[in-house]
Amino acid sequence: MRSCSSRLRSVGATSCRPSSLPRVDFAHVLVVGAGQMGGGIAQVVAGSGRRVSLYDAAPGAVEHGLETIRRSLDKLADKGGPDPNEVLSRIEPVGDLVPADLMIEAVIEDAAVKEDVFRRADGTLPPEAVLASNTSSIPISTLAASTNRPDRVIGMHFFNPVPMMSLVEVVRGKETSDETADAITTLARDLDKTPAVANDFPGFVSNRILMPFINEAVWALHDGVAEAEAIDSIAKLGFAHPMGPLALADLIGLDTCVAIMEVLRNGFGDDRYEPCPLLREHVAAGRLGRKSGQGFYSYS
Ligand code: 3HC
Repeated sequence: MRSCSSRLRSVGATSCRPSSLPRVDFAHVLVVGAGQMGGGIAQVVAGSGRRVSLYDAAPGAVEHGLETIRRSLDKLADKGGPDPNEVLSRIEPVGDLVPADLMIEAVIEDAAVKEDVFRRADGTLPPEAVLASNTSSIPISTLAASTNRPDRVIGMHFFNPVPMMSLVEVVRGKETSDETADAITTLARDLDKTPAVANDFPGFVSNRILMPFINEAVWALHDGVAEAEAIDSIAKLGFAHPMGPLALADLIGLDTCVAIMEVLRNGFGDDRYEPCPLLREHVAAGRLGRKSGQGFYSYS
């Protein structure tokens, strides 16, 4: 696998797997959703030498995603990263789901929308292909139930900004096979990420820890304990976090934070996960964080 992947990276080869084995090299990856997560995923997958088909149902979303990828690649190229044109040449915009060795779904955190993508992908991708979701918290087993291949459905949870963050939380659904988990763990390493395997509990590991932390920071702001800047300074300087929780919520998207808290509250049946009213207020007003230009902070 290593030598195969190295060759993929260096020559952009299409495939080197024996036909009798599962498609563990994932030479062609379909990324569904071209937002900040899907775009970042397409970028790192194409950066590994693989061919990417990028699909988004929203008009103009793929073009916007490609512009964001270009900006990120330009920044990285200034620091010795790969040639942006070469990486971009491996990303092909597509107008619908297409057959591939692997799908990585990165659409909004809405179970019904994701289930629909999985249902359609199951009918489009070959039976041996793996269907992965970048979901932050929706149960993998729920998505797997929309398909006829639950053994080949898995969570591949990247972190924002994807090109900078080294973790992939690999989430095993109840029926995910060992082969699928091994192949996706190997792929994560080949993308220069560090995989950490979790089981299918609400919020997995990452958001079970992170989201209550963010929600509590929003409560501190709501209650007037401190201004946003002070709350973030306390986390940055007091806990050595690279960003404070409110700035991080703006980066993640406040709508996504609410959606994840709701999954935790409903999944555990525990009201302590209720999203802070201030978080809901921002979302209702369209203040979604960086992506809308306004969240806890303003972005020009
Ligand atoms: N592509 C390329 N380069 C990028 C980039 C991107 N997308 N984002 C940032 N950079 C570069 C910047 O250009 C900058 O380069 P320079 O040092 O040469 O100028 C460098 O990274 C540092 O960026 P900044 O100066 O803007 O700011 P920071 O030093 O604070 O770094 C950060 C930015 C990498 C985002 C850092 O603040 C960080 O690691 N923050 C924490 C992010 C985090 O916790 N993410 C996880 C969110 S949770 C999640 O995604 C899961 C979901 O389920 C909720």
